[in-house]
Amino acid sequence: MSVDRSEGGGRFPDGRPEAEQPAWRRDFPIDAAQDAYVARRDYAKFLVLTSFGFVVGQFGIAVAGLRRALGRTPAREIARVDDVPPGGAAIFHYPGPDDPCLLVRAEDGSFLAYGQKCTHLSCAVVPHVDRGRIGCPCHEGAFDLATGRPLAGPPRRPLPLVKLEVRGGAVYALGVEERTT
Ligand code: FES
Repeated sequence: MSVDRSEGGGRFPDGRPEAEQPAWRRDFPIDAAQDAYVARRDYAKFLVLTSFGFVVGQFGIAVAGLRRALGRTPAREIARVDDVPPGGAAIFHYPGPDDPCLLVRAEDGSFLAYGQKCTHLSCAVVPHVDRGRIGCPCHEGAFDLATGRPLAGPPRRPLPLVKLEVRGGAVYALGVEERTT
């Protein structure tokens, strides 16, 4: 097989004429100039598509952040007041079905709610209302019941705080505040 290189400026990569090329290169010729041109075009396509992917991803992150900042998580009833006596607790999921949270009712009757995933390694935390603590059984972490801030063990960040409103005999979750300190 031979390639007509009389037009288009096709050349072998080493610049020698076809007669001096090894047999394998003559049998499987590649037009080096054309090959480089296609590779550049493909590379440009790859860059454009990758950049577009990054732009779409950043846009999605920005929208999610904006929604969080604006507190657009929908309010939802999570419990009836009478169902959780002082000193009691209940589990609910908010804002999505994969987001377990803990509703606790202090001895004075007030409600508090936190994300139930420990901020160390995501074990489910357990309320100890009588001791004013929320404990994590995995590595003996402990959080302050009144604030959700870490008291002991490996956790360094507070539990996410679920904002609540009590009205009409029901407790509503209004949004989740992720905290770093
Ligand atoms: S996962 Fe909670 S203390 Fe480690």
